[in-house]
Formats: sequence, C-alpha cells, structure tokens
Amino acid sequence: MRLRNRPWAAPELADCPYYLSDFSRYRGHWREAFGNDRPIWLEIGCGKGLYLRGMASAHPELNFIGADIKSLMLAYARRNIEQTYAASGMQVDNIILLSVDAERILSSFSEEDTVDRIILNFSNPWPKPPHHKRRLTHPRQLENYKVFLRRGGIVEFKTDNDELYADSLGYFSEAGYSVDEDCFDYYSSHEIDTSIITEHEQKFMQLGLPIHYIRAIR
Ligand SMILES: C[S@@+](CC[C@H](N)C(=O)[O-])C[C@H]1O[C@@H](n2cnc3c(N)ncnc32)[C@H](O)[C@@H]1O
Repeated sequence: MRLRNRPWAAPELADCPYYLSDFSRYRGHWREAFGNDRPIWLEIGCGKGLYLRGMASAHPELNFIGADIKSLMLAYARRNIEQTYAASGMQVDNIILLSVDAERILSSFSEEDTVDRIILNFSNPWPKPPHHKRRLTHPRQLENYKVFLRRGGIVEFKTDNDELYADSLGYFSEAGYSVDEDCFDYYSSHEIDTSIITEHEQKFMQLGLPIHYIRAIR
C-alpha cells in the first residue's frame, strides 16, 4: 500500500524528528546521529515497529535504528512508538527510523559503523529459487552485514517459514557466522514477551504455527 492511500502518513513522517529519508546521511558516523556512544541495534524490515517500540522503550541504554523499504510502514512505526513512549512519559531519543532497501544497506553503513546487533523479524521468505538472493539472510546479505556488524556482534532472526529457517541455518554457516542458538519452536522454551511481539509474529502464533529462531554470532 502506498503513502497516498494513507493521507496522514507522508506529513506525519516528514514531521518526525527521528525519521531519515536520506539513507546515506550518517554512513560512517552513526554515533553522531544519536549523540552518544551507546550500542546500536539495527532492525531491518521493522514493519509497524512493534518490536522496536517495546525493545527501545525498555532499553534506554541502547540505540535503535528501525529500517524499512516502505515509508508507510515507518509512518505506522512512528505512531506506535509515540504511543508507547508517551504512555511512559518518555522522550523518543534512542530511535531512528530509516527508509532504506536492505539490498543497498552498504549505502547506509560502512566499516566505521559498529552495529552491535541486527534483528530480522519475519522477513519475506522469497520462496522461489531465483528470488532466494533477496532473502535478508542470504549469504550475499550476511556478507554485507559483516562490513558494519562488530566482531562478536549478533544477528537474531525469527520466521514462521520452515524452508527459510532451514536454508538460513545453512546461510549463516556458509557466511562464517556461528549459530549459538536455533529453535524450531522458540516459545516451547522461551517466555512470551508481549511487549515485543511483532505484527506478523502475533498473526502466526494465532494460527498455531511454531516460531523459528536463529541467533548467530559474527
Ligand atoms: C513480512 S513483513 C514483517 C514486518 C515486521 N518485522 C513483523 O514481524 O511484523 C516484512 C517487512 O520487511 C520490509 N521489507 C521487505 N523487503 C525489504 C528490503 N529489501 N529492505 C528493507 N525492508 C524490507 C517490508 O516493507 C515489511 O515491512
């Protein structure tokens, strides 16, 4: 759905003090964007920002970048973030919303940027083999992440898709990451934290599907 189908979205996003449409603006100096040296977590494909708002409001000691290719998603994310922060009487000072296509992530981040964690929640599965290279866990992308993910940094990945989960285990190993946790059914061994459940996670859990999880270390 495009922005013009939601007339509120473009003006609200343009007015958002923590929204960046110029994706290369802070390449190589993201710490300046936040004005501090706190660790940076990057969520790629943040959608409506439900994970982002829960995690960032609970962790003021961390900085978060919520990236998505669709501006409309970022406009929803702004609304969701502001609702949560306002309810807690907090200022939004540890989040930046970034319009970027993951395929061009190296236009936004360079080796000078040391991101501590990359989060990929329910990325598109791209089931057809000719499209696999568009997956956000494809080795091509994992190699790109290595440019700016610090050594020992973490990639966290969740999906409902069995094939993407299985293939991604291979992708991480092929790209030289070490998988330190993988769960076919994440919530059979982890508590549900409703404050960070994403839109898609909620939908798949309601359908009774197991949520697959991989945590890999650079
Ligand atoms: C299936 S949704 C998941 C959204 C959210 N993470 C969730 O779990 O509810 C995938 C999201 O990734 C975004 N996306 C898809 N391809 C992308 C790309 N190449 N770069 C950045 N974001 C992308 C979409 O716009 C969408 O918001």
